[in-house]
Amino acid sequence: MKGIILAGGLGTRLYPLTYATNKHLLPIFNKPMIFYPVKTLVSAGITEILIITSGPHAGHFIGVLKNGKELGVKHLEYAYQQKADGGIADALSLAEDFADGEPLTVILGDNTTDAEIKSYVRQFKSGATVFLKKISGKSQLRRFGVAVFDAKNKKKLLKIEEKPHAPQSEYAATGLYIYDRHVFDYIRKCSPSKRGEIEITDVNNIYLSQGTLNWVELKGFWSDAGTFETLYRANAYWAGKGGI
Ligand code: G1P
Repeated sequence: MKGIILAGGLGTRLYPLTYATNKHLLPIFNKPMIFYPVKTLVSAGITEILIITSGPHAGHFIGVLKNGKELGVKHLEYAYQQKADGGIADALSLAEDFADGEPLTVILGDNTTDAEIKSYVRQFKSGATVFLKKISGKSQLRRFGVAVFDAKNKKKLLKIEEKPHAPQSEYAATGLYIYDRHVFDYIRKCSPSKRGEIEITDVNNIYLSQGTLNWVELKGFWSDAGTFETLYRANAYWAGKGGI
């Protein structure tokens, strides 16, 4: 299993902070944001990691992470997404050579969690796994991919809707996924969404239509940190815990 951290985009929701550096290098308590997803992967036994970034501050990652050894990474690579607003799945398409046919655990660089994913990584054989988290409040849910379950079988996932106006469940797709080698073919099948991005939700829905998508509920704390509110929430949580 190899690991991918998606740390691109322009971080426009955090202007003016992200005029100075990449969003994923902003502090969460006493560490740069990117340290958190690195730790999630390394704790799951994944030590070959590719960081995919974009935008004007891409070079800042090397100064902060260096070769990753201090964080327990054995092999660290970087890739640059030319189109900073191309979307998550477009960024992930750059990982095809790095993956070399192996399965991948993918995490968004602004997601922090203290959940343990090691057992899911070890058990993974094929298809895809998405990690869902129960979120309260419709206005919060509308920011995410939201699960739609079968009315007769509450555990049967029918589809994931990206940023729905009327969320059909309280389960949001976190930015944590495990994919087999088919992910790259499925990305190639997707077209840009209304916001002009290749959506990871469309990729997950292709796995669903193939009957090969599993879901699990992420235990513990999880938050993205891409808005002022969630950046503050993540900081407050990790400060209370004393950091990673
Ligand atoms: C992305 C995904 C969305 C997911 C979210 C998790 O949203 O598109 O499905 O729920 O990450 O953080 P974005 O950050 O691009 O708005």
